[in-house]
Amino acid sequence: MRIAVVGTGYVGLVAGACFAEFGHHVTCIDTDKSKIARLEKGEIPIYEPGLDEVVLRNRAAHRLEFTTDLAIGSKGCEVVIIAVGTPQSDDGAADMRYVLAVAEQLAGVLKREAVIVLKSTVPVGTNDRVQALLDRTATLKHRVVNNPEFLKEGEALSDFFEPDRVVIGVRSAEDRAVMEHLYAPMKLRPGQLMFMDPRSAEMTKYVANAMLATRISFMNEIAVLCEAVGADIAGVRTGVGSDPRIGPQFLMPGPGYGGSCFPKDVKALMHLAVEHQVPLRVIDGVDAANTSQKKLLAAKLTRALGTLKGRTIAVWGLAFKAKTDDVRESPALALIEQLVALGATVRAHDPEAIQTAREALGELAHEITFVKDKYDASEGADALCVVTEWAEYREPDLERLHAQLREKVLMDGRNLWAHLSPQSHGFRYEGIGILVNKPS
Ligand SMILES: NC(=O)c1ccc[n+]([C@@H]2O[C@H](COP(=O)([O-])OP(=O)(O)OC[C@H]3O[C@@H](n4cnc5c(N)ncnc54)[C@H](O)[C@@H]3O)[C@@H](O)[C@H]2O)c1
Repeated sequence: MRIAVVGTGYVGLVAGACFAEFGHHVTCIDTDKSKIARLEKGEIPIYEPGLDEVVLRNRAAHRLEFTTDLAIGSKGCEVVIIAVGTPQSDDGAADMRYVLAVAEQLAGVLKREAVIVLKSTVPVGTNDRVQALLDRTATLKHRVVNNPEFLKEGEALSDFFEPDRVVIGVRSAEDRAVMEHLYAPMKLRPGQLMFMDPRSAEMTKYVANAMLATRISFMNEIAVLCEAVGADIAGVRTGVGSDPRIGPQFLMPGPGYGGSCFPKDVKALMHLAVEHQVPLRVIDGVDAANTSQKKLLAAKLTRALGTLKGRTIAVWGLAFKAKTDDVRESPALALIEQLVALGATVRAHDPEAIQTAREALGELAHEITFVKDKYDASEGADALCVVTEWAEYREPDLERLHAQLREKVLMDGRNLWAHLSPQSHGFRYEGIGILVNKPS
């Protein structure tokens, strides 16, 4: 099949490369000229484990091409996948301007009837809206299908190659057949391709993210309660998660959820509910709990050090989670902003996300010292705070840290170090909801 993917970001580049790996001929299109220039040179503009190999292999096999020109890239395509961003607008709604702009342009440039696949996360009703736009503006009869993406950054390739499910919202048997053809080379199990109407597919994506965010916010609040009552979230989590009705996933407490999806998708669902005058009290609470969770580490550091004014804080981790360079809505950046506002000096390390963090922090980045070696961050600092669960942070050299840190404060935003009992090595150690002096 000849397909085009419009939007070559975390989702579009992975989808394009993976569909090419399955033998389709794919052209990835993006308006960002520097991104396309880098891809044409064989450079991968994002950090995603394993993606470089798949991109380079398929590029060499001429199954994967890149362009900034929508007319050229979509020429002769049976399927055009839209994977542009749908960021949060000021009022919380998903900003649809990029999706609608692409749809409008496609109406003008497509010279054959095509199936337009919305892979971007879009509010319920977008499929109908884009279909109406195309019907109004295109001379040919294009059909719009919804196919939300569920991949996780850091594990995007395995998620794409072996998905739990592929949700597809279609209006006709003809569109269903096209989508079956698109996914046929993946040899999915029966039932793995889930067909439904477009509105239900759009809703499924938001509900999945809101459900996961709910589990995180719920456990984050319970972790804070654990600390207050002298219980340990680690034991509680194992005890609760072993119930098969609950399951162990997404029960880790932490510094608040971030990333390009959960925060904005929760807000977009809240906005949709307000528009339709349906109360979503649980989701309102999930969002509010996350806002306070993102303030927890700064509050704990202030308690531990008395004041943050004039202090130096080492921050390990900038990405919103491990195995990605994505810092959108990262709790680490929220922490850094609070630390600077409270008068602290920040030294920060991340194995992959320093450049993206610099860009995201803008002016504030000039006030932060970014270091390549994580121990350069902790040298002479008052406290060390770990915010991202990178594997390389899991077994720190405690002796070295003890010698480096002035105030011997270790703040563990991911409960990575509880098993090392840093308190018994002379640190003031705190995690999120963990009992530091465990009863023997
Ligand atoms: N990142 C994830 O983990 C993830 C997972 C599932 C779903 N999603 C959803 O997928 C969509 C894309 O997310 P992302 O993280 O890949 O975004 P991204 O910001 O990484 O990439 C979007 C790309 O679209 C490009 N673009 C914008 N307007 C364009 C246009 N008119 N023509 C061509 N390209 C254009 C941008 O330059 C950018 O490269 C969003 O709706 C998001 O919610 C993301």
